[in-house]
Amino acid sequence: MAEIPANVEQPTQEQEINPWSVAGATDAEGNAIGFDYEALSKKWNTSLIDQALLDRFEKVTGHKPHRWLRRGLFFSHRDFDRILTKKEKGEPFFLYTGRGPSSGSLHLGHTIPLTFTKWLQDVFDVPLVFMLTDDEKALFKDSLTFEETLHFAMENAKEIIALGFDVKKTFIYSDLKYVSNHILMNTWEFSKLVTFNQVRGAFGFDGSTNIGRILFPAVQCVAAFATSYPEIWTDEPLKERKKSIAEIQCLIPMGIDQDPYFRLLRENAHKMKYPSPKPALIHSKFLTALQGAGGKMSSSDPTSAIFMTDTAKQIKTKINKYAFSGGQVSIEDHRRLGGNPDVDVSYIYLTYFEDDDAKLEEIYNKYKSGEMLTGELKALAIAKLQEYVAEFQERRKEVTDEVLQQYMTPRRLEWKGTAQPKVK
Ligand code: TRP
Repeated sequence: MAEIPANVEQPTQEQEINPWSVAGATDAEGNAIGFDYEALSKKWNTSLIDQALLDRFEKVTGHKPHRWLRRGLFFSHRDFDRILTKKEKGEPFFLYTGRGPSSGSLHLGHTIPLTFTKWLQDVFDVPLVFMLTDDEKALFKDSLTFEETLHFAMENAKEIIALGFDVKKTFIYSDLKYVSNHILMNTWEFSKLVTFNQVRGAFGFDGSTNIGRILFPAVQCVAAFATSYPEIWTDEPLKERKKSIAEIQCLIPMGIDQDPYFRLLRENAHKMKYPSPKPALIHSKFLTALQGAGGKMSSSDPTSAIFMTDTAKQIKTKINKYAFSGGQVSIEDHRRLGGNPDVDVSYIYLTYFEDDDAKLEEIYNKYKSGEMLTGELKALAIAKLQEYVAEFQERRKEVTDEVLQQYMTPRRLEWKGTAQPKVK
């Protein structure tokens, strides 16, 4: 008879973060212990955003840093300081971000990097290109067809527009629908610079990975080259890519899980026929799941997320029912011992949406001392979330097919925050 091993310790699971799956670390009992973002930054060699960088941001732009910067939701970057130097000198640069349309509608967590990108677009007053990776989602999810992801892309685009992007400065496109010669030239040229060993290392591919997945990183990367969209920079029809356009630097706001793509890009951008500067990156953490800091909001678990289509009533129910509480079990205990705001999901959501630093601090202290009860804290979070989602839903009603068409038409963009590039 095989011996039953005595007292086997379950291995502690480390956090796993890559563009297609994200899981926090768990302890020996399998309990979620969350994400260690500082360790990740160290491992991937990114720079943490510090007060000096925020002070410089304020000095250069004249804007107070967004609360998501002040409170560390955007916590890490690569070369963001170089973008500030561009802004200071008035030299052209642009924003690029994207969304993988894996379902027909967005949850709150999806909107964070996008709402932040809109804010950057307002503050910097520069062009934005927005890529919908409907190709990626069908390639990486066996259950989804290209027809489905293309349909999701169009539905998502309407919600993305409802986040408030300025149509004059924004070009949104679907990978499956929009392919210019310029994008193709860049994709093939970039793919020639990257070996299978490199993508295997970055993404964990192996010999049975379909070849679409292997090419796709080149598609997501070349969107950061200004030469992929000559039409946004000039009315002149350009048959070829131009050196002067290639020199326009890009800033990419993203969830930290997307960083592996852009490391590949930063290693190779200068090797293109028309070399580009390394794109700058700014990384966000994941939005905490309703169940608490160990998880992230996920579409596949409706009890973990607030959806942008949720009604005020649904939001209220979800927070009251599922939002992890740092309060004590009885009112007496709570008054006596106080609550723990640091693990309380309602408090954490208030840090995302209550802009007033002094007010937030007051809430923190009152909850911690036991003066504020869990029900009161939840009510504050519910009101803030309802407001964010209701404003979104109002704007969403205005986004017709015609409006969508405007954003998705390749065209010269108009901005004032930097000089116009000289096309030579
Ligand atoms: N791959 C991303 C996703 O699945 C979408 C994306 C494309 C993206 N380009 C990007 C995200 C640039 C951030 C920045 O969601």
